[in-house]
Amino acid sequence: MTRRQHVPWKAAGTASENEHSADAVVRETGWVFNNVTGEELSLADFVETGNHETRAYLQAFGLDTDALASQTMVEIGSGIGRMTASFSDIFGKVVACDLDAAFLERCRETVAQFGHPERLQTSHVTDGRTLALADDSADLVFSYITLQHCHHDDAIALAKEAVRVARPGSLVILNFRTWVAQDLVLWPAGKLTRATWRLPRVGPKIAQMRLPARLGWQANRLSPTEVWQAVGPSLTDAAVYRSPKRRPFGVAGTRDDVFDGVHRSHWWLVATVR
Ligand SMILES: C[S@@+](CC[C@H](N)C(=O)[O-])C[C@H]1O[C@@H](n2cnc3c(N)ncnc32)[C@H](O)[C@@H]1O
Repeated sequence: MTRRQHVPWKAAGTASENEHSADAVVRETGWVFNNVTGEELSLADFVETGNHETRAYLQAFGLDTDALASQTMVEIGSGIGRMTASFSDIFGKVVACDLDAAFLERCRETVAQFGHPERLQTSHVTDGRTLALADDSADLVFSYITLQHCHHDDAIALAKEAVRVARPGSLVILNFRTWVAQDLVLWPAGKLTRATWRLPRVGPKIAQMRLPARLGWQANRLSPTEVWQAVGPSLTDAAVYRSPKRRPFGVAGTRDDVFDGVHRSHWWLVATVR
């Protein structure tokens, strides 16, 4: 049986398999990645949003994109390749990992059209918590708006996996979601929504609808302290990036930093593997 927190992704992946053109996939399922809808959307527009974000984040976290051409990066939660195409322009090799195999097929298509397919490898995260990749095989492990969608324990497991596959001296750049005041309403509403996905007949239909999906798909909240307790001993030179609208998280052993592009409910762990 599909695990509850996997439902909206499997539903969107299945929906993407029914579309005949890449532009139609973006119109039907692109909103699960960048929350944008519209009859005129194209894969090119979709990839352009990713292109903008990859460079903005890498720059904000102090990476010189010109120096990355010989490096191998791993992207946890690539989806249909919104950011992956751009990563394949920047890095020598990109390993796109995702829970949904149909997304990975579409990711190949996206990178073939807008990036460097010869630099792409895909890797299916079959259990939602283990990367089928060797220890010390990456120069950078990156994840954006993905770990918030995993079961709490799977998100922690994937953070540990990121550290395992990153070679000593390389970077992990991981995005998480933590508590905000609106969660007083959003968190119980999300739990209720996830329960409806199990209903016979209507459940699978609800899982494909935008509003319920958006309510139910954030499957955890993780504080910087909790993640740091799990992976901190393996990391050094760590920074927690937050929105300037939030107070510092104050995690001992990490540097506090801000970036305008960080949503109030999000934070990033940027650290070097020991
Ligand atoms: C909101 S999308 C973000 C995709 C991409 N990072 C982007 O910004 O366009 C979240 C992605 O994470 C994937 N995902 C969800 N849970 C996962 C898990 N446990 N392991 C790996 N991928 C997962 C989903 O299938 C989906 O492609």
